[in-house]
Amino acid sequence: MAGAASADAGLACIGVLATSAVSQAVERQNNALSSRVLTASNPERDMSIAEPVLKAEQITKQVSSPEGTLTILADVNLAIAAGETAAIVGTSGAGKSTLLAVLAGLDEPSSGRVWLNGNELTSLNEDGRAAVRARHVGFVFQSFHLVPSLTALENVMLPLELTGQPNARKTATDALASVGLGTRRTHYPRQLSGGEQQRVAIARAFVSRPALLFADEPTGNLDTTTGARVIELLFELNRAAQTTLVVVTHDLSVAQRCGRMIRIEAGRIVADGLSADGRILAEGLAADPVTAAPLAPPQAAAARLEPERVKS
Ligand SMILES: Nc1ncnc2c1ncn2[C@@H]1O[C@H](COP(=O)(O)OP(=O)(O)OP(=O)(O)O)[C@@H](O)[C@H]1O
Ligand SMILES: [Mg+2]
Repeated sequence: MAGAASADAGLACIGVLATSAVSQAVERQNNALSSRVLTASNPERDMSIAEPVLKAEQITKQVSSPEGTLTILADVNLAIAAGETAAIVGTSGAGKSTLLAVLAGLDEPSSGRVWLNGNELTSLNEDGRAAVRARHVGFVFQSFHLVPSLTALENVMLPLELTGQPNARKTATDALASVGLGTRRTHYPRQLSGGEQQRVAIARAFVSRPALLFADEPTGNLDTTTGARVIELLFELNRAAQTTLVVVTHDLSVAQRCGRMIRIEAGRIVADGLSADGRILAEGLAADPVTAAPLAPPQAAAARLEPERVKS
């Protein structure tokens, strides 16, 4: 297995995202882990079953721009129960990735509070959040974010080694086999197809059996057939591990696989309810999930989400 230097480069690479704040956050995660702040200085506790595994209260995210203050998220309130599968949908630029990053503790809100598996992320500094993420969170990103200098097996071993778990090689070998890549252990990412790379990323995300798995457009860089296989695998592993899954997607068929659909527009949640057959079923839903226009009953009981309108 690669040494500490490779691992350092590795975790930094895992977290390379669109926003610099997010990538810096994941980069710093490695420092938190290697200095073992995980259990010693971070008062973690597990929530009782009745409490949501993920909760956000009055989240706003604002950034400064030459044109003035830009509001990316506005008054977002959310509670997700353990074992739930939730899709976050909305047009491009609606704030989906920003919301996911805030919920996962990769980015900080401007105001509001977030709890993840009983830990108030918004009361922790970056090292504290990194420790919570390492212990409770898995990520799958659109562009895989495998470490190019590590083999498939070493990529999957990385989160185990960084948290000092024993038998990392054996556990990672099993995880790689579970995504059908047992014979590709020694291959580097450049020697794998896009679908295979995403399967390695999924094995890496699940290998430490996180309470929560976040996926941001996991099929965005894959062709339809490969994407469908990857999604099948994601949901299969999710069922087996009973992980809470929060997935950002433009793909209605992926959203429909989730028990719940959350629609976000211009940084606000405009619909949130159980999903079935492309419909958001929400008691008293006040707004059209696509346009956010007010709905009159009985439309409000089951607002139709047309497939073509899910796409941005
Ligand atoms: N660090 C930042 N500074 C300025 N604007 C930002 C920053 N991060 C995000 N934004 C803006 O916030 C809005 C929401 O971005 P976000 O990436 O969350 O959208 P999204 O819903 O994930 O879009 P897509 O479907 O295209 O991925 C966009 O208008 C984006 O340009
Ligand atoms: Mg996005």
